[in-house]
Amino acid sequence: MIVVAISGASGPILGIRLIEELLNQGEAVSAIMSEPARQIIEYEMQAPAEHLSSLTKLLSTRKKTARLDLLEEYDNNDFFSPAASGSTRYEAVVVIPASMKTISAIAHGYADTLITRTCDVALKEKRRCIVVPRETPLGMIHLENLLKLAQAGADIVPPVPGFYTRPKTVDDIVNFIVGKVLNMLGKEHSLFERWDQSYIKNEVSENHRK
Ligand SMILES: Cc1cc2nc3c(=O)[nH]c(=O)nc-3n(C[C@H](O)[C@H](O)[C@H](O)COP(=O)(O)O)c2cc1C
Repeated sequence: MIVVAISGASGPILGIRLIEELLNQGEAVSAIMSEPARQIIEYEMQAPAEHLSSLTKLLSTRKKTARLDLLEEYDNNDFFSPAASGSTRYEAVVVIPASMKTISAIAHGYADTLITRTCDVALKEKRRCIVVPRETPLGMIHLENLLKLAQAGADIVPPVPGFYTRPKTVDDIVNFIVGKVLNMLGKEHSLFERWDQSYIKNEVSENHRK
């Protein structure tokens, strides 16, 4: 089981696509979404409010996965949910996208929501905690908090596209970032072609390699 947490930063589509990919791979997902995340989904994805009563509802309207049976959703204030406890077994927690507020809370052990509590537990139990921080530019406080998280054992995976895949659409960029997170989780995917498969070929001349 993988916990996917969507906090209130720009790019909630990243978390939604990650959930869809994991479900399509037959992976059980526990999802948590903050209230600001819900509002940003409504704004950025122009999702009608009636589709936002739950992630399950939103995913069912997107029709990108047939495995909604593998999705459990928890309220961000529900500290009775399994992920809040250190005794629950799960493979990893991914905060995608991670707002600077949520990062600050995790970095300081301020576990006042299910998202921050789950990360707090993951770090103390030495489990995988992957954070996809979304802000630019990053200020000193943000950088210090990210360093604290990395020192505590979290993996920091900024949502920075690689242009060597020659993205043509926003979906291409989203897939690239979600693919990077899946790489970190050790999951197979075909969201972008790996460098060694397609790009090197004969396209890059000897001169460019030098
Ligand atoms: C449209 C919109 C986009 C936002 N984007 C970001 C962002 O990219 N990064 C960030 O740190 N905060 C962003 N915020 C501000 C956060 O939503 C705000 O700090 C909130 O308290 C985060 O709460 P949460 O981490 O509990 O979800 C955004 C807010 C709005 C309304």
